[in-house]
Amino acid sequence: MKKSCFGILAVLLATTLACSGCITGGSNDNELGLINEGKLVVGMEAQFPPFEIIRADGSFYGFDIALAEEIGKELGLTVVFVDTDFSSIIAALNAQKFDVVISGLTITEARAESVFFSDSYFDAGLSMAVPIGSTIQDLEGLTGKRVGVQLGSTGDLFATDLEGLGELKRYAHAPDAFMDMKNGNLDVIINDGVVSAPIVAAYPNDFMIVEGLVTVEEYGIAIAKSNPELLEKINDALAAIMADGRYDAIYDEYITNWSE
Ligand code: ARG
Repeated sequence: MKKSCFGILAVLLATTLACSGCITGGSNDNELGLINEGKLVVGMEAQFPPFEIIRADGSFYGFDIALAEEIGKELGLTVVFVDTDFSSIIAALNAQKFDVVISGLTITEARAESVFFSDSYFDAGLSMAVPIGSTIQDLEGLTGKRVGVQLGSTGDLFATDLEGLGELKRYAHAPDAFMDMKNGNLDVIINDGVVSAPIVAAYPNDFMIVEGLVTVEEYGIAIAKSNPELLEKINDALAAIMADGRYDAIYDEYITNWSE
């Protein structure tokens, strides 16, 4: 009895190994359901330092780019970046415009209804950026104020729920809100803290950050629900990158020592 059980186990094991062999055998067949065989097409709204920007020479640069490149190496795929509108980024993913979204994208319950999220790869949260000399110190201070957010972002969702704001202005790109605040048209910007920080640091005579985060968020990689195999591969790749020091190196280069 025992012996035959072992026999069955051995057969099962052999089958499992053979099957995983055909899945990972990968780059010729397109088991991962990629838009283009051998390529990982990454959608992002690339005006979001230090996660993604497009440099003067047209190249994509930032934390998410470096992370995506490492994921590409893990999966044996060439990574292609697509700059896109943020407010429709999930719809575009589901319309197969890209294979994944890596765009400082916060994992939310509402979004998770329409896409898969990878394991979290970054601890984030919203902060308030204000003009130098502002008296705003907390959320109560927002009553009657002109608030800027990125359209469709968690900052937008958060501010939309606040009562008593003077005005809520939504911008396609976070840096546009900062330019408008520089011109005197906003009292505060509610945006991802780690993104507002380098922008504020670049304009020390104009802006400052109100201490403390107003939300706790985590970033994840979004994958279409039609593609569960890719989700698994991405999570495996992330785990490998986090385990062997590559994640820390990327963090140091782009978050701790950001420069454009
Ligand atoms: N974390 C925020 C969100 O998920 C903002 C992300 C904006 N990302 C970008 N690349 N513009 O809504």
